[in-house]
Amino acid sequence: MTIPKIKGVIYLNGKILPIHKATIPVMDHGFLYGDSVYDTFRTFGGYPLQLCEHIDRLFRSAAKLALKSPLAKKEIMAHVLRTISAYWKQFKKEDVYVRVILSRGYGDIGFDLSLCSHPTLIIIVKEIPRLPEKYYQNGIHVALVPTLRNPPRSLDPNIKSGNYLNNLLAYLDAKKQNAQDAVMQNYKGEITEATTSNIFIIKKGTLYTPSLDSGLLKGLIRTLLIDIARKNHLKLIEKKITKEALLAADECFLCGSIKLILPVTRCNNKKIGSGKPGPVTQRLMTLFPEAVTHSIREEYCIDF
Ligand SMILES: Cc1ncc(COP(=O)(O)O)c(C=O)c1O
Repeated sequence: MTIPKIKGVIYLNGKILPIHKATIPVMDHGFLYGDSVYDTFRTFGGYPLQLCEHIDRLFRSAAKLALKSPLAKKEIMAHVLRTISAYWKQFKKEDVYVRVILSRGYGDIGFDLSLCSHPTLIIIVKEIPRLPEKYYQNGIHVALVPTLRNPPRSLDPNIKSGNYLNNLLAYLDAKKQNAQDAVMQNYKGEITEATTSNIFIIKKGTLYTPSLDSGLLKGLIRTLLIDIARKNHLKLIEKKITKEALLAADECFLCGSIKLILPVTRCNNKKIGSGKPGPVTQRLMTLFPEAVTHSIREEYCIDF
């Protein structure tokens, strides 16, 4: 069997290793139970966007699982920057994908927290997975899928855990419908989010995004876009969104830390609006780089 070569480096419990050399024991509860949390982001010009907010969210996810980090937030941030520079030394690429994982660690079978005394900290730095450029120019096709988003009282969508089976099942549904991604509803039929991104629709010039009480991850790009919209006097409302409202929208897009802003031009094989990325989506795509520069300048106190 040939193992695909993935260019990257991994920080694993204190050591930085090439990707293929980083391994964890089978008895790690992250593997046995999906008992781990993670957060994902990318760099711009070598600087991780919203680093502090991502590590804060990682700690919030961990707290919900009573999972204690072996290191303080500042130490993890320093290791993220060190791992990024190790990648740069080897591959000479500034813009990278970063995933920080905190797993319950090695221990015997069972849920008793005392079984695992040493949580595992992993930082993966690798190439950014890029979607085809035509997806950004023409928009993608999504499907409303039968798999429902986990209700927050079953599994809080704000725990970014190592178990993404709810999202994976929705993605598989979407593939059966020849769509590039799935849009998941909650058990009341409200739109929540896509499998790894948040969703916005536009109707008569106003932006709408599902309110958090529909049960979705509070994405950091969602928050950044709400801020961009407010600063640029674009009308934006967070509310419950029905499937009918999505199908009748003039425009739609997905957003997340890796795909950034991705126009959606078809849903369930039906055109959204004109079937092309619309003016409000394009405006946000134009305003986005400036907001990234501003955020990085503020976080790292540099003239970026
Ligand atoms: C389910 C889900 N929703 C939304 C997002 C977008 O979040 P962010 O903007 O913080 O990347 C993600 C990103 O991983 C996700 O997994």
